[in-house]
Amino acid sequence: MTKTLPPRSARAWWRDAVTYQIYIRSFADSNGDGKGDVEGIRSRLPYLKKLGIDAIWITPWYPSPQKDHGYDVADYMDIEPDYGTLAEAQKLIDEAHKLGIRVIVDLVPNHSSDQHRWFQEALRSAPGSKARERYMFRDGNGVNGELPPNNWQAVFGGPAWHRITEADGKPGQWYLHLFAAEQPDLNWENPEVRSHFEEVLRFWLDRGVDGFRIDVAHGMIKAPGLPDVLDDSNATPEMLAAQKMPFWDQEGVHEIYRVWRKILDSYEGDRMAVAEAWVSPASRIALYLRHDELANSFNFDFLTSAWKVKDLKKNIDQSLKAIQDVGAPASWVFNNHDVVRSVDRFALDLQPGKGETTLDRHGDVAKLDLQLGIRRARAGALLMLALPGGAYIYQGEELALPEVRDIPEDRLTDPRWEMSGRTDKGRDGCRVPLPWESSPTSAYGFSTPAQVDPNDTWLPQPAWWGDYSVEKQERDPRSTLAMYRAALEIRHQESGLGDGEMTWREFGDDVLAFSRPGDFLCIVNFGKPFKLPAGEILLSSSPIHGDLLPEDTTVWMRAK
Ligand code: GLC
Repeated sequence: MTKTLPPRSARAWWRDAVTYQIYIRSFADSNGDGKGDVEGIRSRLPYLKKLGIDAIWITPWYPSPQKDHGYDVADYMDIEPDYGTLAEAQKLIDEAHKLGIRVIVDLVPNHSSDQHRWFQEALRSAPGSKARERYMFRDGNGVNGELPPNNWQAVFGGPAWHRITEADGKPGQWYLHLFAAEQPDLNWENPEVRSHFEEVLRFWLDRGVDGFRIDVAHGMIKAPGLPDVLDDSNATPEMLAAQKMPFWDQEGVHEIYRVWRKILDSYEGDRMAVAEAWVSPASRIALYLRHDELANSFNFDFLTSAWKVKDLKKNIDQSLKAIQDVGAPASWVFNNHDVVRSVDRFALDLQPGKGETTLDRHGDVAKLDLQLGIRRARAGALLMLALPGGAYIYQGEELALPEVRDIPEDRLTDPRWEMSGRTDKGRDGCRVPLPWESSPTSAYGFSTPAQVDPNDTWLPQPAWWGDYSVEKQERDPRSTLAMYRAALEIRHQESGLGDGEMTWREFGDDVLAFSRPGDFLCIVNFGKPFKLPAGEILLSSSPIHGDLLPEDTTVWMRAK
């Protein structure tokens, strides 16, 4: 695989960056209310600096009723009072920059909160009014409009349409919500919606942010006429599998990104945007990465690969080929706030379905071997960080946190739990507030300096949480935290890492291996122990005795 690139110091930072995702509600709590906040993030900047990441992405921090924990935005140009103030956000951005850390904020353009002033105005206004035109209101089907306008289902479960009561007290129109009912879809055919978001981009760019993570980036445009999707009764399984959803990945979204790219480029400093686009195959993702569109797009095919050598190799090949055609860098990712943590996935061989925002959370939990999961997650991390391009890591991944599976049902907060008819516990298990310290005092150091019980944080922390704490791992040179720090340091020193060339190397069917410029060699062993080639070992994901590379282990070497 060859690519002509300027040297790392001369190319856009987002071609190589390792970005750390901060789920603000669960990162660090500075005022003892059991929820993370802006000042909490600021207080932990030295930790992030020491970790060696290049950028942070902060999940939505805007005023929000928190029905979907910030992904229901009530005002795109302010800060949620529970999280802090605009002045504090500015201080955080400035301090991060002083430390050489870039800041990416989350933009949620597909839908707003139902508490957004636009939606409230739409509810008060008549059908057909200008206010209704900002959202996706439609008359219902059936004699009295009692049936939804089409058969679309919400991602979280149930119909994607909600019927409102009109000002006269009668049942009225329906509005579209691809997610929760409290997240009405905006109408992106309306120029006012477009110009509002252009203003939002400028608002944050003027405050110095380096980029945006675009939520549901494949969702804003819907197929004309909002046609029904095929359903089980009128389609064969092949037809169902092949159908293109009329609300995902429509051509029209690209026009929006071309306009946004111009805005980003009108600012200094390689401002960027990264797409959360659950589209497949890789050639569809590449369309979002054309030179006049977005900088990065998460590689969800990689995230949804099973821990199997063939799957991962195939995905890496296909992704690199697809993005090479448009000249974009890869964006590897194994974890985020929407999926079961990789420790559990890799231990249980969970191979989730493609094109969904959530994964199979079940698996045979009785068989869960956490040590195996941690071993594989560590091996996966060194694989990901050696591949060409950038990478995204999710808070707690550097601690090899497992999924928390025993949150009591009455404490579950993800809308998916209720909307699925309580069949899917949702995503809370990967969102539990971080363990900074080993002792449960002050919620394992999450709420400082206050004394907060681990059961009183917004999601309860389990009794074993302290075993994974930053404090404990800082004292252990073999900890996952120590491995990430070492890996990120090597990544900065090795000019051949980050974006650029890679060459596959053959060491047998159970081994995935490639070299990077500078005689750098990355070898991942999925099978029986095998004899390493000659060279100097730089780092390994589990201990190596003699010259045998154990199973489920990645090694970084300088080849001889
Ligand atoms: C994205 C977010 C997810 C959210 C959804 C609706 O997939 O990552 O957390 O629930 O969009 O905004």
